[in-house]
Formats: sequence, C-alpha cells, structure tokens
Amino acid sequence: MNANIVLLPGDGIGPEVVGEARRVLDAVAERFGHRFNYTEHLLGGCAIDAHGTALPESTLAACRAADAVLLGAVGGPKWDDPQAKVRPEQGLLAIRAGLGLYANVRPVKAIPSLAALSPLKPERLKGVDFVVIRELTGGLYFGQPKGREQTPQGERAVDTLVYTDGEIRRIVRLAFQLAQKRRKLVTSIDKANVLESSRLWRKVAIEVGKEFPDVKLEHQLVDSAAMRLVTHAANFDVIVTENMFGDILTDEAAVLAGSLGLLPSASLGEGKRGLYEPIHGSAPDIAGKGIANPIGTILSAAMLLRHSLGLEREAHAVEAAVSAAIDDGQLTADLGTQRPLTTAQMGAAVRERLGREAAVARNFD
Ligand code: IPM
Ligand code: MG
Repeated sequence: MNANIVLLPGDGIGPEVVGEARRVLDAVAERFGHRFNYTEHLLGGCAIDAHGTALPESTLAACRAADAVLLGAVGGPKWDDPQAKVRPEQGLLAIRAGLGLYANVRPVKAIPSLAALSPLKPERLKGVDFVVIRELTGGLYFGQPKGREQTPQGERAVDTLVYTDGEIRRIVRLAFQLAQKRRKLVTSIDKANVLESSRLWRKVAIEVGKEFPDVKLEHQLVDSAAMRLVTHAANFDVIVTENMFGDILTDEAAVLAGSLGLLPSASLGEGKRGLYEPIHGSAPDIAGKGIANPIGTILSAAMLLRHSLGLEREAHAVEAAVSAAIDDGQLTADLGTQRPLTTAQMGAAVRERLGREAAVARNFD
C-alpha cells in the first residue's frame, strides 16, 4: 500500500523518538512491501520560533491532506513564560480540534518482565490490560469563557467545563464499540456528585448503554477511580472519561506499565485519519542526549498502522517485536536497567526483532 504520513517531531525529545519510530515504519514498509511517504512539519515551540504560532496553517493543511500523523511531543522551558501569549501546548490542542480528533485512545498493559520496576506490588499488576478513552476536544481545555482579568478584588481567572450531550454520546459510543471486542465492560468515570456536566455525562452514558445490552456499564467517581487504578487496575477493561480526568488518570496509569515512556496513544475522529503520539511529554531534562525511550512512539506507530492504514498484521508485528525486545532485557535508562540502551539502540533492537516477527507473519499467509 501507498500511504502519506505527516511527521510532527515537535520539541525536546520529540525528534529523537519520532526518528526511531520512522525507522521502524521504514522497516515495516520494506518487509511487508508497502510505500510510506513522509513529510515533516513544525508544531509547538519550534513552530513558535519559526512562525510565531504553535500551529502554522501549513502544518494543519498538510495534516488534513495526509492519511495519518505521527507526533513526538511539544513544549519546554524556553516557552514556559506564564505571561507568554503563545504556548506550544496550544498547538497540540488546536491540531486535535482542527482535525476533529475527539477520541484519545490510550491502552495500558502491565508487562510481566517489567513488574519489578513498578512501585506497586506484583500482585496488583497481574492481568492489568485496559484502554482509556479520553474525550479530547471538549471540557475544561476548550470551554469558553476562558481567561484572566483584573477586578477591584484582585486578579481573576476562569476556565469553563462544558459538554453537550452530542459530544458525550459519540465518545461513550466509541467506548462501548471497543468493549464489545474486548471483555465487555465499560467504566464511565465522572464527578457526578458535584459537577453538572458529569450528571449529564452519566445520563448520556446510561442511554448509550441501552444500545449495547451485551456490554456491562459501571460508573465511578474520579477520585475513587484514581485510587482503584492502583489498587484494582486489573478490574478495568474500557474506561471512558472527560478530557481533564483522562489526562490525569493516564499519567497515573503509566505507573502500571513501568514507565511513562512506554505508553502510546491514538487520537481519532470520524473517518480513518488519526494522530498518533506517545503519552509522555517533551522531557527537556534529557532532550538531545539520545537516551529517551522510543517505545511509546513506536507503539503509537503500530496504532497508526492498525487504525489509519488498516494494516493489522503489520501493527501486530511491531507490537510483538517491542514485547520481544523488552522480554530480552533490551531497555532504555527510564526502565531502571544497569546497562541502558540509547534511543537508537532501542529502535534497532525492535527492528531486528521485527525481521523475525515479519517472517513468522508471512509463514501464515
Ligand atoms: C497529553 C498532554 C497534553 C494534554 C498537553 C501537553 C496539552 O498532557 O497529551 O496528555 O493535556 O492533552
Ligand atoms: Mg497529559
């Protein structure tokens, strides 16, 4: 197949991890006989430096024309001035909204060979395998009014948490559709004991649940869900929640996997085009050192193959190669190993095993 992929390396460690993921995609193209064409564009702090805006028109236009977008990370201390008019993160929010990507899919799995890395007891990690569906273009991050003003009583800041029933319905439906293919349990997380938007969320979730009688629906309040995520994580199958709760809970969930550097995500809307990025940030403290973990981005590339290009077998081969590399003890510095691999060595370890996985996949043809 022939596919056009936009790369948005962004800031900090973004270019390093996207570079490795691209090499893995190249290896997939070669082994499975595809052709991937890449174009690279600016997003985030690097775009502010070059164009004065975090999301240049040309970047958005290129993404709209592409089959899929692979993103590294945005942000860094250079652009962190709280008084600044433009911030790298605005670029990320604007591209999600601009491409209509309302669903952020974040799979979380505990890897048995990394159990010792987790601050949690091994028995708490047993069987942990769930997916968080985070609503991505609504809630506090986008609601209006938003802003700061001077008042006679002092400075005042406001953010607005707003959802329409339509926004809730489409994301909850997606969660149910995914659960049908998994263990058939949806946990909807809200704060319905306090927030009006959460009460609407819960009402709509119950309505949508009636369309899927084969899937069980449960509700949890976000504070207790945050606790259950570390005490009973294996009980979750598909979690669906609003934008900010999902943002916070997925960083927490990374502890279950062993490192924030391991987790991928897909941002999806209507149609097949999606934006794929690791859930970690730009990690300015280690940027440029060549030691960042590329696995979150490589697994994001696997999600790209599956969701946007329909290449399930190829996606599976990448995931299997990542698991094989990790099980063989090929680990980067964040995974607490004595002799850590560099970013490039980790990428190479995955590509080497991709050869084997691809050969196995072809034998089943
Ligand atoms: C994430 C990040 C972003 C978000 C930031 C950088 C805007 O934390 O993708 O989880 O909050 O969505
Ligand atoms: Mg986040």
